[in-house]
Amino acid sequence: MGIRNIRKDDDEILRKRSKEVDIIDDKVRELIKDMMDTMHKFDGLGLAAPQIGILKRIIVIDLYDDGPCFALINPVLEKAKGKQIVGEGCLSFPTTFGQVERPEEVVVTGLDEYGKKTTIKATGLLAQALCHEIDHLNGIVFIDKILPGTLEIVTPEEKK
Ligand code: NI
Repeated sequence: MGIRNIRKDDDEILRKRSKEVDIIDDKVRELIKDMMDTMHKFDGLGLAAPQIGILKRIIVIDLYDDGPCFALINPVLEKAKGKQIVGEGCLSFPTTFGQVERPEEVVVTGLDEYGKKTTIKATGLLAQALCHEIDHLNGIVFIDKILPGTLEIVTPEEKK
């Protein structure tokens, strides 16, 4: 296990709705660990299970020095308030960047990797990351939301 292959670009799994997780067991925790490993390997701030080809409602987020690292199962966007225009990228679209509009403040509920109900109140970058990852679970990707005139394509050589 460990590092998983990231689904990219026009892979149709990225457009599908993921299913609720009914049973949170060691298999789910192992999947979360692999998602974390994969996110860290590619320096992502977040990853959703469909990005590694698994249509389950599981996300992981790590804001490194700017915030927490956690997994959330069956996340639900309960409240969204305000708006922020922010630069965004995605591990599934490694050469594409752009500005998108996201809520400035959100309340998200879900379960942690032991099935405990969790409520997250977030602003700024964490609110953005939560919305981006929850979108993935509904088959929505950020490239659909890029504001006109802000699309940037970076070729792999320019990137690093
Ligand atoms: Ni993404």
